[in-house]
Amino acid sequence: MQTNLRGRDFIGDLDFTKEEVETVLDVAWDLKRKRALHEPHALLRDKALAMLFFFTSTRTRGSFEAGMAQLGGHAAFIDSQTTQIAHGDTPTEIGEIYGRYFDGIAIRQCDWNFGNQYINAVAKSSRAPVLNMQCDVYHPFQILADLMTIVEKKGRDLKRKKIAVSWAYAASYQKPISVPQSLILQMTRWGMDVVLAHPPEYKLMPDLVQQARDNAKRYGGAFDITDSMDDAFADADIVYPKSWGALLTTQDNAESTRIGKQYTSWITDGRRMKLAKDDCIYMHCLPADRNIEVADEVIDGPQSVVFDEAENRLHAQKAVMALTMC
Ligand code: CP
Repeated sequence: MQTNLRGRDFIGDLDFTKEEVETVLDVAWDLKRKRALHEPHALLRDKALAMLFFFTSTRTRGSFEAGMAQLGGHAAFIDSQTTQIAHGDTPTEIGEIYGRYFDGIAIRQCDWNFGNQYINAVAKSSRAPVLNMQCDVYHPFQILADLMTIVEKKGRDLKRKKIAVSWAYAASYQKPISVPQSLILQMTRWGMDVVLAHPPEYKLMPDLVQQARDNAKRYGGAFDITDSMDDAFADADIVYPKSWGALLTTQDNAESTRIGKQYTSWITDGRRMKLAKDDCIYMHCLPADRNIEVADEVIDGPQSVVFDEAENRLHAQKAVMALTMC
């Protein structure tokens, strides 16, 4: 068990080694058990976390804020629009100043070609750990919760379990590509057979795709890419279909909408779920475009684990905060 996480940033999925992620999961299950038993676990008494949001959130805000309270500390919700950032506060100033006020700085900044750079710039000048609540490249806490959920449902030995990470059509907006990118990076470290499915315009960043390939080779799994959602679903143990923007193809919203409309058949419905194994689980980070991205019969059906998955955000994040901010 590797426990050397005190003071560490968590910005990209691979910032923590596989052994360190195992430690995070062990701590997360311990904290989940303690909460279920109403056992106090004030591991961060008198500590404070800054939560700086440049983008909306339901789960991330709620779970970080509740998590800090349960750990005996305080989380300050800071909407970027109510700060002086628009009037000139630089990432260096945020890192220097908030790093002196707070014991951790968590940031959500998803702007394309900017968010990850911003978070890293804050981290460079912060004396407190910086935690990535989602950027344009990664959503590492979501994927820790996803991994925790998969182990709970499928057991600790994930070797050769097939997970389909698939694009799905959505009409609401150009969603970030951070979730599928973090999924292929983390899941290929556990010996799983990871299949990424998307139409040609929805490619992910080539260097991250290469890292996923390297992981699969190193950890004894597989990583394949297909343009068929059905092929990805065939005999899968886990399906994780969600929408993301054609951001590597175009940043123009009208063009993106036009491209997306060619692929409205990329929905998760009962027919598609039947292609997967009978005990296949359906996952989604939420929010989902209901009956566009996924049919109600699936997301509300017996194979869906979306609420357990959302709950595990709380436990996984508490584990990382307790390990890094103590
Ligand atoms: N899954 C997720 O990050 O949800 P929010 O955008 O609501 O935080």
